[in-house]
Amino acid sequence: MDSLLPLSLLLLLRFFAPASAYNVRAIFTFGDSIFDAGNNHFNSNCTAQADFAPYGSSFFHHATGRFTNGRTVVDFISEFVGLELQKPYLEAQIEVANGSRKDYPTNGINFASAGSGVLRGTNQDYRVTPLQDQLQQFQNLIDQNHIDRDLLKQSLFLFESGSNDIFNYFLPFDPPTLSPDAYVQAMLAEVKLFVDRVYKLGARRIAIFSLGPVGCVPARALLGAPVDRCFGKMNKMVKSYNQGLDGLVKSMASKYPGAVGVYGSVYSIVQLFRAVPNRYGFLNVSSACCGYGTLGGLVQCGKEGYTMCPNPNQFLFWDYFHPSEHTYKLISKILWSGRQSRITPLNLKALANLTIYS
Ligand SMILES: *[C@@H]1O[C@H](CO)[C@@H](O)[C@H](O)[C@H]1NC(C)=O
Ligand SMILES: *[C@@H]1O[C@H](CO)[C@@H](O)[C@H](O)[C@H]1NC(C)=O
Ligand SMILES: *[C@@H]1O[C@H](CO)[C@@H](O)[C@H](O)[C@H]1NC(C)=O
Ligand SMILES: *[C@@H]1O[C@H](CO)[C@@H](O)[C@H](O)[C@H]1NC(C)=O
Repeated sequence: MDSLLPLSLLLLLRFFAPASAYNVRAIFTFGDSIFDAGNNHFNSNCTAQADFAPYGSSFFHHATGRFTNGRTVVDFISEFVGLELQKPYLEAQIEVANGSRKDYPTNGINFASAGSGVLRGTNQDYRVTPLQDQLQQFQNLIDQNHIDRDLLKQSLFLFESGSNDIFNYFLPFDPPTLSPDAYVQAMLAEVKLFVDRVYKLGARRIAIFSLGPVGCVPARALLGAPVDRCFGKMNKMVKSYNQGLDGLVKSMASKYPGAVGVYGSVYSIVQLFRAVPNRYGFLNVSSACCGYGTLGGLVQCGKEGYTMCPNPNQFLFWDYFHPSEHTYKLISKILWSGRQSRITPLNLKALANLTIYS
């Protein structure tokens, strides 16, 4: 009988209700299109966009700039933690500048930019925001006291990036000068710098997600890679990068006092879906639901000539590069409460419940 509660009690309950059932008040996100919640949309200079139909159509019923038909992994994690979805940094910046909001949101901010990589030069001609600049945006907010430092201990930091660097290594018109191994090492050096800087700025709970099997995306057809199997050379680089990330997370405990790092093995999770699709509700794990040409991988969803499958959530891939919301949801559930072989040393649920003192 809620309606009989006196107004004062209702107000009290509202006032004291925690923002989250977990010890998480905010989520700060860095990375590429897997995580981008619309930053590129608010960057009018940028040509890597998903701000048109039918992106977003299965859940938001309009395009939000997310590169999928609904929510991303970051959105699901926010839901599990009990927070409102984080805004893209550039949207918040515009709103603060035009006076429609007083200050930056207190539930965290999403800095991810589609098309970006961990190497500064990756897709710079598309005017994406590289990881280093995402971090600079975060630092500026702290320096300008738009983010309370005490909030950072009660925050989760999510990182996923590197697919674009590795995909671009195989572009025919721009042959790489580094060997695959040297290229991966250069990528890992940037991630190391990122973790180092974000820790020094106050991050304490840091989740690093591996890349999925990038060599299996439908867009590999653009590179002339085999279509009846994944692109082995690409996946080999992905695995070696992922191994480096795992090592980096393992070294965090001793290198960064007070910090807890976790490594989520998205690669192995996606391989599980590909191995037994029907157990996870997939009818199709090879082609894009929305796109055009070989594997639906030759044209971006929404662009001229595209077609869309009737039920996007029966497909592992929504478009030429990106998973469907169904795939993201399954990945998120496993990262949230899965076992050590999927996310280690803690799952996100345990990470969210930690209290950080230093
Ligand atoms: C877009 O380009 C203009 C002109 O170069 C620049 O002033 C502006 O800061 C850029 N916007 C973003 C979001 O990078
Ligand atoms: C401020 O910017 C936001 C985001 O672009 C927009 O939705 C809103 O209408 C703007 N408000 C004003 C008062 O200009
Ligand atoms: C997956 O979907 C594509 C496009 O609709 C289709 O051409 C292909 O045959 C499907 N593959 C399987 C294994 O069902
Ligand atoms: C969170 O931690 C508390 C103790 O600090 C424990 O009682 C509770 O069961 C934990 N909740 C979850 C979901 O792990």
